[in-house]
Amino acid sequence: MDVLVRLLQLLVLLLTLPLHLMALLGCWQPLCKSWFPYLMAVLTEKSNRKMKTKKQELFAQIKGLKGASGEVALLELGCGTGANFQFYPPGCKVTCLDPNPHFEKFLAKSMAENRHLKYERFVVASGEDMRQLADSSMDVVVCTLVLCSVQSPKRVLQEVKRVLRPEGVFFFWEHVAEPRRSWAFRWQQVLEPTWKHIGDGCCLTRETWKALESAKFSELQMERQPPPFKWLPVGPHIMGKAVK
Ligand SMILES: C[S@@+](CC[C@H](N)C(=O)[O-])C[C@H]1O[C@@H](n2cnc3c(N)ncnc32)[C@H](O)[C@@H]1O
Repeated sequence: MDVLVRLLQLLVLLLTLPLHLMALLGCWQPLCKSWFPYLMAVLTEKSNRKMKTKKQELFAQIKGLKGASGEVALLELGCGTGANFQFYPPGCKVTCLDPNPHFEKFLAKSMAENRHLKYERFVVASGEDMRQLADSSMDVVVCTLVLCSVQSPKRVLQEVKRVLRPEGVFFFWEHVAEPRRSWAFRWQQVLEPTWKHIGDGCCLTRETWKALESAKFSELQMERQPPPFKWLPVGPHIMGKAVK
């Protein structure tokens, strides 16, 4: 890593020292878990407005993915506030999963506003360990802005493949690292140690497309998008689908 990047990292660290000390003492994480859903509720509304057409295009494909029951068993992985519910077609039976139980009241609001869907349950668990969900039990898994925050994208994708039925579809939309060697990438490196605390574990420099390519789905379609917010250090987005 460049000397300059290290120096700037140190400067940002010093400027945000109380935050890092709280994290070190273990008192930041519980605080962050409780306020993060409020932040997401605000950001989600704004990003949904910007991404409306793209999300409509992506999730319109869910219509044709009904399982044997005549419904679409859909897992919203890292569901947050339920940002995507409004884009799902009627006939979806949604299971929500998130390790942060503080999202529940925001989820309840989104459910009340989207009565065209059926809701199964809210599972409090991480994507790396979805043992509460049976093998091949889902027609569709959706994951938006989550793989940046998980401990292990590889393990999450293994779990996604386990819970999907054969030919089930994984839809994703994730922010990823800027191109290496660019100034934008160095800036992400500078901010990352602090951003991770503010963004509840969010990494700015993840090259998530690599994990998707290594996950050995039978089919993978992915397109790159510019970031919806220029004022945030999050980089370009990748959006697409992978078939089991
Ligand atoms: C930036 S929010 C995105 C929420 C929502 N998917 C959206 O598009 O608005 C990241 C979400 O990932 C969840 N998350 C963090 N670590 C996770 C993990 N290991 N497994 C599953 N979800 C996780 C967070 O609790 C949070 O709800």
